[in-house]
Amino acid sequence: MKNIMNIQRRHLLKYAGITAAVASYPGFIVAKSQGLGNKPSAAFHADIEIKLTLKQIRTKILTGPKTWIWKIDGKLLKGPKATLENHEESYLGPTLRLQKGQKVRIHLTNHLSSQSILHWHGMHVPADMDGNPMYAINKGETYVYEFEVVNRAGSYWYHAHTHSYTGKQVYNGLAGLMLVSDDEEQMLKLPSGDYDVPLVIQDRTFDSKNQLVYLNHMMQRMHGFLGEQIMVNGQADFVLPVASRAYRVRLLNGSNSRIYKLAWDDGTPMTVIGVDGGLLEQPEKLPYLMLAPAERREIWIDLSRRSVGTELTMYSAAFTAGMQGMMGGGMMGGRRGRMMGGRGMMGGGMMNNNAIPLGSEYPVFKIRVTKKANANDQLPSRLSKIAPLRLKDAANADKPRTISLSMRHMSALLNGRSYKMNDVRSDEIIPVNSLQLIEFDNDMHGMMSMPHPMHLHGEQFQIVKRELNPGSQSAYKTVNAGFVDSGWHDTVMVMPGEKLTLLKPFNDFKGMFMYHCHNLEHEDLGMMRDFRIV
Ligand code: C2O
Ligand code: CU
Ligand code: CU
Repeated sequence: MKNIMNIQRRHLLKYAGITAAVASYPGFIVAKSQGLGNKPSAAFHADIEIKLTLKQIRTKILTGPKTWIWKIDGKLLKGPKATLENHEESYLGPTLRLQKGQKVRIHLTNHLSSQSILHWHGMHVPADMDGNPMYAINKGETYVYEFEVVNRAGSYWYHAHTHSYTGKQVYNGLAGLMLVSDDEEQMLKLPSGDYDVPLVIQDRTFDSKNQLVYLNHMMQRMHGFLGEQIMVNGQADFVLPVASRAYRVRLLNGSNSRIYKLAWDDGTPMTVIGVDGGLLEQPEKLPYLMLAPAERREIWIDLSRRSVGTELTMYSAAFTAGMQGMMGGGMMGGRRGRMMGGRGMMGGGMMNNNAIPLGSEYPVFKIRVTKKANANDQLPSRLSKIAPLRLKDAANADKPRTISLSMRHMSALLNGRSYKMNDVRSDEIIPVNSLQLIEFDNDMHGMMSMPHPMHLHGEQFQIVKRELNPGSQSAYKTVNAGFVDSGWHDTVMVMPGEKLTLLKPFNDFKGMFMYHCHNLEHEDLGMMRDFRIV
């Protein structure tokens, strides 16, 4: 803690020289700056202007006492009204709806007693607009973001990205959706408005007074936080009332560490139409869908032949996460695994809580057909056009940048290194406007092997291949039919014993762009690094 404060202080002093010059914008107090990013620039003509305020409030989430949460309170200063939608009875931040090509200015003001900063996950923005932890602001300070939306249509999101405290801050509520639309998407006439439903899936633990409990027990940090209760859009026991027609459902796994294996309880296949970086070229049908932290999947569900009163449950099916070392034989749970042998048994008693075990079977949410509809939407067979990235265009086609993932001695590491602010090694320097071949190697040599949802900031990437160490087959077979590797991604789950190769463009912007595990406890344990684009 002290150490962190020192780093921040040094950082603050380093830029103190620029401070005075930027502190003059009316109404905004700016304490530190990297130049851009801290004050609105006159040359930037914003189409959309938003004020986001971080504050601690009490809100009604469960029946009974209100819950203290950290809320991102949103106010639209300029732009179409539909741009910003606040969610009062939830800890989630406002949903932001943007159009490709819009110029967006966001004033972020921190009224929390902790430092914080927000990151636009999946968005391709300049380095100093990306919410790198080095830009964290203190209580009373404001950070001004300015960027043009260059991403294609897709379900992006945003969340706190504070050094060592991302897990805790996201858990307390600092996250929300950022949905982008564009002409290509609008031409498809997919279900919209009430029939386009974003669902943020998370898990939480509440104490007997309805207050959020975030455990910091070392063992739980190594595994990642697992809650006792599944929340959808910030609500417990979520039921979505629907009409008998087609829906576009956008799923975001906003959990700190929980991995879902989503399936419909009546065996209806999952029809996937989009992933992290927007629509696929064509729909894909899967028996179930793996959804690791930070990943998004858009699905199509046709309820036109369902009668009023029908209920469907989306549940998380059993799978093996592969934590052999620590847990003494995997984490596979049976039906209603949390009920087996008493709550908390699956954690071996070490975690000392009643968390729903990872890989057990449990319901996530329900949909209930409450009215008839005459709509007759057809799922388009062609959704978008995606230009494949080509290996031969990579700057390092025969020499991939390998990033080994490991957990040892109570730390989570990338190439054996832990996160340090402003610490870029020679193999972390990437030339701007280059295409890079990157491979994540989830080695099995540590005492603990776990899936790691790996995320890279900046532009979306394409998955090239997965190679599996033959010894890891059995766990792998419980999940791999749920991967969607086509399309554009910013996060990908790498299973134990797996090596995953991807192609990622690093275009347009120089500066620091992070790569890290999106298990937020792993991230906070140091499983995070920066690339410097030069
Ligand atoms: Cu969603 Cu660096 O994070
Ligand atoms: Cu990100
Ligand atoms: Cu991890």
